[in-house]
Amino acid sequence: MVFLDLPPMMQAAGSVRLPGSKSISNRVLLLAALADGVTEVRDLLRSDDTERMLEALRLLGVDWQRDDATEVCRVHGVAGAFPVKQAELFLGNAGTAFRPLTAALALSGGSYRLSGVPRMHERPIGDLVDALRQLGANIEYDLTEGFPPLGIAPGEVRPGATVSVRGDVSSQFLTALLMAAPLTGRETVIDVVGELISKPYIEITLALMQRFGVTVQRAGWQRFIVPSGARYRSPGTIHVEGDASSASYFLAAGAIGGGPLRVEGVGRDSIQGDVRFAQALTALGAQVEMGENWIEARAPADGRLKAFDLDLNHIPDAAMTLAVTALFCDGPCHLRNIASWRVKETDRLAAMATELRKVGAEVEEFDDALRVVPPKTLHHAAIDTYDDHRMAMCFSLVTLGGTELRINDPACVNKTFPTYFDAFASIATPVPVIAIDGPSASGKGTVAARVAAALGYHYLDSGALYRLVALAAMRAGIADSDDAAIARLARELPAAFSEDRVTLDGEDVTDAIRTEACSAMASRVAAIGAVREALLDRQRAYRAAPGLVAEGRDMGSVVFPGAQPKVFLTASVEARAERRYKQLKEKGLPANIDSLSRSLRERDERDASRPVAPLRKQAEAHLLETSEMTVDEAVQFVLDLVRPPFEN
Ligand code: DC
Repeated sequence: MVFLDLPPMMQAAGSVRLPGSKSISNRVLLLAALADGVTEVRDLLRSDDTERMLEALRLLGVDWQRDDATEVCRVHGVAGAFPVKQAELFLGNAGTAFRPLTAALALSGGSYRLSGVPRMHERPIGDLVDALRQLGANIEYDLTEGFPPLGIAPGEVRPGATVSVRGDVSSQFLTALLMAAPLTGRETVIDVVGELISKPYIEITLALMQRFGVTVQRAGWQRFIVPSGARYRSPGTIHVEGDASSASYFLAAGAIGGGPLRVEGVGRDSIQGDVRFAQALTALGAQVEMGENWIEARAPADGRLKAFDLDLNHIPDAAMTLAVTALFCDGPCHLRNIASWRVKETDRLAAMATELRKVGAEVEEFDDALRVVPPKTLHHAAIDTYDDHRMAMCFSLVTLGGTELRINDPACVNKTFPTYFDAFASIATPVPVIAIDGPSASGKGTVAARVAAALGYHYLDSGALYRLVALAAMRAGIADSDDAAIARLARELPAAFSEDRVTLDGEDVTDAIRTEACSAMASRVAAIGAVREALLDRQRAYRAAPGLVAEGRDMGSVVFPGAQPKVFLTASVEARAERRYKQLKEKGLPANIDSLSRSLRERDERDASRPVAPLRKQAEAHLLETSEMTVDEAVQFVLDLVRPPFEN
């Protein structure tokens, strides 16, 4: 399975330009095509759906040019019905192109065939076709009644017709009818049957029609009247707003991770319902400011997000972001009236509950609501995304709690935001890691511990983990050739570190893991790939705010490849044997300088030549040769890499 490992983050701040809204992009393209005059469309979303619409418009006789440098698309409107009267259109899986084009072509007086990918042929369109037939359109199903592909022939459009359309299946049918209605040239009255769902999307349609000069009268959400003589006129230039649902991840990141975090592309004047996510964040105590074309969020003044109990029916997509934000609130949170989650890309109520539990939350799932009790500490987890872009995007926020997180199938974000994880990386600051690698007895343990203390960082002695596995194996009488048994031990290792003591199964083994016999066994178990794999998560869990100093052999290469800075600390075999000799003598343990040198050479050889994670200086690592250095000097060398000398 493909996955993405996100590092733990400490804070989030900066600014992000949002990709264009898909709903707005395809509506604008169609309206610009039908309008009188040239429309300059700015910030159009580049996605499969918009490409299908643009191709179709070209085939239908609409001229357009896109400037790759400025991303401006100039659409030459045809001032009414499409000039090409016969065409075969392939629309992929683009629902936002298929439905509105069906309506516009049915009223264009030509012969057309519309088809898509097999999945498109499973998506219902019968309610729209029924409504168009009431207007006099001539539409046939090619394969299955009620579903694409469709054949359209010139019809007898009835003047002044009243049509009924269902509003409780998809609001896209009403959107398609509304946008095409001016092509009849007469007044069109549209009655909605059933409770209209997704009203904010109809508001987008009406607002855009208004921008193109057509005002729709409406009586509540039940009846819409497109006046006679309505004609679309180009507004000249039109900006496609950024995607308001995508904005929610960054605004939440600012509220959780400090901020200020600004999203550009949506703002106070947005026509998208999901901008109301900003108000919801305010209810949590976040500080939110809005400009015409931007929104900015930062953490509450006292740093704590407040628990919430909110009805989120009006912002179902952005509400997912709030479910993850609940992990950072100061008490149990209620998300109410979100039954529509059950019928989205996946059953989002069930998926959200399952994945929130993985990171440690206590979650109660109701038919139409969630109750989330934030955990004291967040757990590292592998998050499943259910082919749902929003699951992947909102869970990335968990890392702002200082937790590493794996996102399975991260490419699902391509649906609306292919560059999401790059954008997230550009605003989130990972917990820093200083990696110090080097051969045995080079003094890196002492240096690393002193650097960690000086910076107030956590400290990882990864060699101690291999030593613990070695000790456990020796005590259990496991042969060093039994890779599987040793790997099992490594996975279950009941070890604990406190202050400067190490325990195994509750027994203090601080000295026991430092014997020569244990060192030799450690070097052998460390060559077993499955052992290294088993210890990987355990080592990464040490990475926590405000930072980590990790020392070993593969800190900078395998465990924390993104560490910054990386140091390769070494010394001559003679100098190292001398240091080890002194240490052992100080502890009153037996020591012989020749045998120490010999065993160091052997271990160097084994650590450097093993096929898995061999000890090797990384190209970007700073070489620190300490044979002639004091510990103080070596510590200073590393500190100088972390902060400029004058700050020490
Ligand atoms: O650093 P140390 O001497 O305590 O390490 C003990 C053994 O573990 C040593 O033989 C190398 C191995 N080791 C490793 O392979 N990778 C690490 N990151 C740390 C230690």
